[in-house]
Parts: sequence; structure tokens; C-alpha cells
Amino acid sequence: MTANAVLTLPDGQTVALPVVVGSEGEKAIDISRLRYRTGHITVDDAYENTGSCRSAITFIDGDRGVLRYRGYPIEEVAKRSTFIEAAQLLIWGELPTTEQRMRFSDLLTDNSALPEDFRRHFSGFPPHAHPMSILSAMINCLQAYDLPGQVIDDEEELERVAASLISKVRTIASAAYKSSISEPIMYPRYDMKYTENFLHMMFSRPYRDYVPSPEATRALDLFLMLHADHEQNCSTSTVRMVASGQANLYASAAAGVCALWGRLHGGANQAVLEMLTAIQTSDVSIHDYVTKVKDRRSKVRLMGFGHRVYKNFDPRALILKKAADDLLDQMHVADPRLELARQLEAVALADDYFIERRLYPNVDFYSGIILTALGIPVEMFTVLFAIGRMPGWIANWAEIHRDPESRIYRPRQVYVGQTERPWLLQSQRGGSSEPDPV
Ligand code: CMC
Repeated sequence: MTANAVLTLPDGQTVALPVVVGSEGEKAIDISRLRYRTGHITVDDAYENTGSCRSAITFIDGDRGVLRYRGYPIEEVAKRSTFIEAAQLLIWGELPTTEQRMRFSDLLTDNSALPEDFRRHFSGFPPHAHPMSILSAMINCLQAYDLPGQVIDDEEELERVAASLISKVRTIASAAYKSSISEPIMYPRYDMKYTENFLHMMFSRPYRDYVPSPEATRALDLFLMLHADHEQNCSTSTVRMVASGQANLYASAAAGVCALWGRLHGGANQAVLEMLTAIQTSDVSIHDYVTKVKDRRSKVRLMGFGHRVYKNFDPRALILKKAADDLLDQMHVADPRLELARQLEAVALADDYFIERRLYPNVDFYSGIILTALGIPVEMFTVLFAIGRMPGWIANWAEIHRDPESRIYRPRQVYVGQTERPWLLQSQRGGSSEPDPV
């Protein structure tokens, strides 16, 4: 039997609202009929407390630091899986069989190269263009090269388009980087797995092959896997919003890239490294920096700290912190910014400001250290996040697309602007007065 919540309105009217319970026991009050029944809407600035959909993909319990992909704990995924297997898990809901894994792997390989004339689009961007702007434009552009993929009407076609997007996003990303440093764009290799192939396209040159170490490949694969989905974050919600209007997968994914770009979301990984570098190269002490961060008037934040959902710790940050330690040891790299990050973390975690607000390091705090050790330039960090998040965006797009009950997303608002008023003639508006138009 469905339980009800009872809401009493200012005029004394009471209304019973169904309580929906998720599979992990999360309770939500269904207000979808509230306006119809009472004339009231609900308001929740920045969606602090709004469940925007029902989803079966990823579960987060932010108070306990729990993250699961399709029921599998992130720690287990990180230990046992690969980015591509996690992608299949997210999009199709189950761990793939050997046959499914091999078929998808073949599709990734077959779809890794960009159409030859597509490559010329890269030269249309100025050299200083941010790779995120190139990435979003190019993903949108891809749909023009895949007209059948704009209408996905079965799982087989979804598999092909998903493989194409997951594979090509990495080819586009490396091509954007190569263009930005005026080096020839590298073709993907048919004998390399996903992550190794990406590193090859980033760092090989026509006259010299780059062969990444297994440690480097594994660290990057882990980075991608940990970013693969994170339920209704800013970019995924954007993808769902666009998808709900029945936009195709390419257009929805391109919108996701744009939403990811901001410094409070995926752009934070770049911002963290820039922050660490700025502290390291200035004479500002950690103590002074933290003092500045705590002063609201400074508008400076400790980048890589805090999360809307995690109020305990971000399990991805714990995994990445260890991975950063291991990678720097294995590669014999001594990056002073890792030590600085450790000190910043220790100072912040012991400080009442962060304790009271329950601010902990998030996934972006340590990821930049790993990417730097791999030789990835800082402007590419958010692009790497986008490559990682692509399976999550596809899984969320598919969840909407498969749902026969799906409807367009269309939030309401509380209007706080001017009420109706008379038109002002030019002569009534102040400033230099021109004659009123006849
Ligand atoms: N440094 C200093 N103060 C902070 C920080 C921070 N990083 N994060 C939150 N606060 C303070 C904030 O000033 C506010 O204080 P007060 O109560 O005195 O006004 C309080 O904590 C609550 O902050 P909020 O901005 O209301 O929290 P939010 O849930 O809206 O924002 C956040 C979440 C992640 C945008 C925010 O914590 C932040 O800006 N962090 C830094 C950027 C960052 O690392 N982003 C990556 C997020 S994780 C990966 C992803 O989503 O892509």
C-alpha cells in the first residue's frame, strides 16, 4: 500500500501526496499533481532537494560515501573492471558476457577513426581554442556524418551509436590536442585497447611511436572508470533535459560537454591544478590561502573540495588519492603539487569551517595529479572528464529513450519580475531623447 504525506496549505486545505520509495529506501514525496489539485507549485532553487527522475543506473548515498554502478560498489568496479566494461554495465544494466564484450570491443575499433573529411574541421578553430569548445562542436558535427544514427529504434542501433560516440570522443579529443600544438593528427591503432589507443593518439608522432606503460594505461583507465557516471549531476541532468525533448544522442551528448565545462562541475579538475600551481609559485602560505577561502568576500573557493551530495567523503577521491600515490611512485615522478595537495587537505580537514560545512575532497582534488603525471596538459583535464562521463550520458539518454512513459522535462518557476505595466514612450525613458516613433 502506498503511504501518503499530508500537506496543509495556508488556507487550511489539506492534501495527501503519495510517498515514493526507491529500491535503497530513499523516500520522495510525489508532487506532480499538486498544482492541478491546489494551484501550488514547489520551489527548490538549484534543485537542492528535487528528485528530477526515477533512474536505475547509479546509486549514491552521500552521507555514507556510497557510490554504486547498477548495484556494484565503485570500489569493486575500480578493482575488477575496465572503463569499457563499466560503460557496458552502465548502458545495458548487466556485466557483459564474453561475447558481448568482444562484440562491443570490435564496434569500438571499427568506429574509432573519424571520417577523413571531418578532420579538416579542426583547422577551423584558432590555435588558442579551448579543447572543450572543439569537443562539443565536433560531437554535434558527428551527427551530420551519421544520419541513420539520429533515429535509434532498437538496441542494436543504440549499441552501434554508443560505440561510435565512446570511441570517437577519444579520437576527437586527441585530434583537438594535436591541432592545438600544431602536430599531425594521429590515426587510431587497430591493435590497441581503448585507453592505450587514446594515449597513443595523444603522444605518438608520425615518426615516433609512443608506447604507454601498463601503469600509465591502468591509471588513466581507472580515472575514466571513476568518472563514468554520477547520477543527476549538472551535465547528466542537461543530457536528460535535452533528451526529453527527443533530441538525438549526439546533440544530447554535445550539450552534456557544454554543461560539464564549468569550474564548479567538470572544470574543477583544471581549476584544482591551476590553484596548486598558483600557490606553489607564489609566496602565499597554505594557511593564508585557506584563510582567504574561508572569507566569503574573497569569492575564492578551495577547488576540489565540497560536493552537493557527498557530506561525508567522496569514495572516488579516496581511490584516486591512492592511485596518484602509486603512480608517482611507479613512474618515479616527484610532483611537489601532490605534497601541497596533501598539506592543503590536512589543513582543511582539521579546520572548523570545513568540518561544520562537511566539505571533503571530491573526485577532482587528486585527479589532476594523475593526469599531470601522465603528461596530459591542464587544458585537456575537463576533456578527459568528458571522455569518462560519456557512458553515463549515454546510459541516461537511453533510459529516457527506452521509457514509453517519458515526457518532456519542463520545470516551472516562481516569477518575481515586474507585474503588467504600461509601455514607456522614448521621451519618457530618460537619457538623450529622440522623437517618439510614429
Ligand atoms: N571552498 C570553500 N567554501 C566552500 C566550498 C569550497 N570548495 N564549497 C562549499 N563551500 C561553502 C560555501 O561557501 C557555503 O558556505 P556558507 O554556508 O557560509 O554560505 C557552504 O560551503 C555550502 O556551499 P554551497 O555552494 O551552497 O554548496 P553547493 O552544494 O551549492 O556546491 C560545489 C557544491 C561542489 C559546487 C561547491 O562545494 C564548490 O564550489 N566546490 C569547489 C568546486 C569543485 O570542486 N567542484 C567539483 C565538484 S565534484 C565533481 C563534479 O561535480 O564535477
